[in-house]
Amino acid sequence: MRQPLVAGNWKMNGSKASIATLLDGIKAGLASVEKAALVVCPPFVYLEQVAEALRGTRIALGAQNVSHEPSGAFTGEVSAAMLKDMGCAYVIVGHSERRSYYGDTDLLVAKKFAAVRAAGMKPILCVGETLEEREKNVTEAVVARQLAAVIELEGAAALQDGVIAYEPVWAIGTGRTATPQQAQDVHAFIRGRIAAIDEAVAEKVQILYGGSVKGANAEELFGQQDIDGGLIGGASLNADEFLAIGRAGR
Ligand code: PGA
Repeated sequence: MRQPLVAGNWKMNGSKASIATLLDGIKAGLASVEKAALVVCPPFVYLEQVAEALRGTRIALGAQNVSHEPSGAFTGEVSAAMLKDMGCAYVIVGHSERRSYYGDTDLLVAKKFAAVRAAGMKPILCVGETLEEREKNVTEAVVARQLAAVIELEGAAALQDGVIAYEPVWAIGTGRTATPQQAQDVHAFIRGRIAAIDEAVAEKVQILYGGSVKGANAEELFGQQDIDGGLIGGASLNADEFLAIGRAGR
């Protein structure tokens, strides 16, 4: 049985003050979240503040991006070892905003996945198709290609050291959620691709859904057989919404 996981991707939002308020709110309601594991992913500059505030709670710390390089002359970059040093347990790699605005290719994302894994943290590997790709009926091909890059570099067994997040690009921040059936279909496809190589890994790997998840739709999404929780953007900036999503599902 896979444990549900709900991860908040705060993106480029927040201030010291708003983050303190948000974390106070989440911690105040934490006892109501019985099954799901929770992760929050603040911007780099707030990692230390958040690590401090999370100390002694069961909420894990994550980062939103990482360099694939270990160290050296890479101005503006942050290494996996640094994130580990700050207390991160998870790192998002290949978010569609990184892929589309900052040129993160499938290969670069695979290298980032490898760097996070080598540092002893869990990569949250985002995959997903654009609206144009869905309309062209190439959703499965796109997701398979994004997944294959990691499998080629690291092997399928490496996936069990991470988490996969299926995020249809057209559902991110748009208020337009995939229907539970649309999401389940792609989750089952992803699990099936992995099962074709290694059934035990496929059974174990958590596959999260992301894209306009809210307290009001989480229950139905997370109730699907192959959906093991969510990667939450907008709604993770509101403590009550984030907690409601944490309570949803199996
Ligand atoms: P959203 O973002 O929940 O605001 O749609 C999800 C994500 O980008 O991870």
